[in-house]
Amino acid sequence: MLKKMKKAKRKRLLAMALAAGVTISGLGYSTTSFANDSTGNTVQVHNEVPKLIDAASINAVIGAMTLDEKAKIVVGVGMPGLFGIPKLSVAGAVGGTPAIERLGIPAMFFADGPAGLRISPTREGETKTYYATAFPIATNLASTWDTKIIEAVGKAQGKEVKEYGVDILLAPALNLHRNPLNGRNFEYFSEDPLITGKMTAALVNGIQSNEVGATVKHFAANNQETNRFTIDTIVSERALRELYLKGFEIAVKESNPWAVMSSYNLLNGSPASQNTELLTTVLRDDWGYEGFVMTDWFAGTNPVDQMRAGNDLIMPGFPSSSTAIINAVKDGSLDESLLDRNVKNILEFVVKSPNFKDYANSDSPDLAAHAKVARQAGAEGMVLLKNEDKALPLKKENKVALFGNGQIETVKGGTGSGDVNAAYTVSIVDGLTEAGYQLQEDLVNDYKDYIDTLRQQDEYKIKPSPWGEDFGKEIPIIPEKPLEVNEITQVQEDTDTAVIVIDRNSGESADRQHVEGDYLLTDTEKEMIENISTVYHEAGKKVTVVLNIGGPIEVESWKDKVDSILVGWQPGQEAGYAIADVLTGNVNPSGKLATTFPKQYSDVPSASNFPGTPAENPTQVVYEEDIYVGYRYHSTFDVAPSYEFGYGLSYTTFEYSNVRVNKGGKFKDTITVFANIKNTGDVAGKEVVQLYVSAPDGELEKPEIELRAFDKTKELKPNQSQLVTFELDAMDLASFDSEKDQWIVEKGVYEVRIGASSENIKGTTTIKVDKEIVVEEVNNALEPNVAFDELSKLN
Ligand code: BGC
Repeated sequence: MLKKMKKAKRKRLLAMALAAGVTISGLGYSTTSFANDSTGNTVQVHNEVPKLIDAASINAVIGAMTLDEKAKIVVGVGMPGLFGIPKLSVAGAVGGTPAIERLGIPAMFFADGPAGLRISPTREGETKTYYATAFPIATNLASTWDTKIIEAVGKAQGKEVKEYGVDILLAPALNLHRNPLNGRNFEYFSEDPLITGKMTAALVNGIQSNEVGATVKHFAANNQETNRFTIDTIVSERALRELYLKGFEIAVKESNPWAVMSSYNLLNGSPASQNTELLTTVLRDDWGYEGFVMTDWFAGTNPVDQMRAGNDLIMPGFPSSSTAIINAVKDGSLDESLLDRNVKNILEFVVKSPNFKDYANSDSPDLAAHAKVARQAGAEGMVLLKNEDKALPLKKENKVALFGNGQIETVKGGTGSGDVNAAYTVSIVDGLTEAGYQLQEDLVNDYKDYIDTLRQQDEYKIKPSPWGEDFGKEIPIIPEKPLEVNEITQVQEDTDTAVIVIDRNSGESADRQHVEGDYLLTDTEKEMIENISTVYHEAGKKVTVVLNIGGPIEVESWKDKVDSILVGWQPGQEAGYAIADVLTGNVNPSGKLATTFPKQYSDVPSASNFPGTPAENPTQVVYEEDIYVGYRYHSTFDVAPSYEFGYGLSYTTFEYSNVRVNKGGKFKDTITVFANIKNTGDVAGKEVVQLYVSAPDGELEKPEIELRAFDKTKELKPNQSQLVTFELDAMDLASFDSEKDQWIVEKGVYEVRIGASSENIKGTTTIKVDKEIVVEEVNNALEPNVAFDELSKLN
């Protein structure tokens, strides 16, 4: 049993050790480190060492560190399982910091990721399993608009981090949905920075309540996978401050994440991990960030520049990086005080880590309890796009025909580092069966046989991920099973209603494509929707489509053919249960879109410049659409989407009334906006209430609307009302003036629109600002080094 040393005793030991320059051993504290064996390979060793460092002695410890030790701790232990580096004792952890026994500094372990802890489910020579919970993808979580449930997800994720012996989770990820084709959008929340920041802060607060760390990533403007290591993102300072950095700013200020992960891409000419303006001027000087910064894995080109920029830790680390840092200090090109600063930033979290505190992890978190949280959050974030004549909820006595491959191979989440090695994924077949529905069995069996047969073929065999088993599985996409009309007719005669599942998947290292089978439906899928709708409608029966997707697909060409559409997202391992909860009405849908579903891909404001130029192999991507991302573009330029930002139906209806503002609408420091929401339908439900501001154009042009606050009512019973209150301060009205480097509220009349979506505005009021308010002055930073024409509504 490990024993903690008393603080005073530790201090004494530290003083002795530092004075004598000796290593004290045998005090019963174990740690993990890396060494070379006789053949020169790196091996992991467990040591019994004293714990000399503590929070109060960090400066003294740094003072006693050799240059080699400093250069060692700012570089990770290397990629476990690659280049001869052994797996960490927490198999599947993707990295960590080295221990320095002489000073009692233990290692820290890091593991992905955004949908839950990604570690290996099995370990060599052991029968015990180490499954983690696959939670809903971030896009699903954001669609809840409910920070309380997101915090509960974070709490559960952090518990698994702690109980499996990990110190820091490499999540949440919060890049904006700039373009729906980004292959990693599923890991991210929204096209809007406010909802992104609020969701991130809630998750981080939940994770860190377990006294483990969270990492907000990928900082910053990492909005595509195409050439992610080399692409130079060119973006205006205003778009950065108002959009791409804003979510990070909110998260830093409202949740204090232990770590920030800098991104792969270049930002306005300089790799993010080597960008002093990003990592020091903005992150620390402007926002007051007090955690440490790590690189993304293998990011950047110059370890010494990374040190200078304030990128404290290089991941996963190569010995050559340490050597370069040592040489730079010796030849005077790297100021040792900068290295000390970085070492300190890391050590401050080493002493907070569970590993440092000898936390005796159980290796058995309460997976059953966490599954419940995952199911609840998944269902809560599902979005009902359409529900003609109350096609949903499905009636209990209805016999259901389930169509679509996704009923069997329901997708829990995306691939790559955002995957989770969960023990199972509940299929939609199993979810509806468990909910008590009678499914048309022959049809289910036909789909099972079809999938089983194809999965035997080499082309469709499920294999370990190309990056190794720890990264989950590679599941080749099986083409949608073709259906004959007479087959559909036969099934129709035996059933009361049809449910069609359309599924999609994407993941790290590749962007999605604007092609059939990805953004567009395949011919088989189109025919399936067309024929099933015709056959069922002729018989007076209803058709529902469930979208088991990680981000928008084209819906405009087929949405009118069906009666109801539910975006079930990729809701984690409890997928089938969570989708069934909403289809059956056990859960009344209350999710709303946090990302626009455009009518066609060419309506996406970045469609013409994503993923950059030259088209065959992009080296640069210019964010010409500037501040007009997502609904900011659609509303300003009157481009109607299929389903707008903030949209989502319920099985009940809500009435908004009495939208009003206090102080006679005159803004002074703060102002409060109120609205009454009443459930006017016949079942209980929750409503997401959105506050958009339409700011006056002054020196700065403004988007037509910007989301400035949101809230979700409690569950309201029929006829029950709730008063929703939004307190706005000056920052909530401000825009960024990049000439003056100031957040400014220009004078004029601000229209406040309270809506059920960005377009379904239920009531308005106005706020008057008599004279310009300078809310905050920041450093001049991150200006683009390339001139370009930003999209403007004034042209
Ligand atoms: C991803 C990160 C991840 C890291 C470690 C990188 O490829 O971009 O999000 O945390 O790998 O797995």
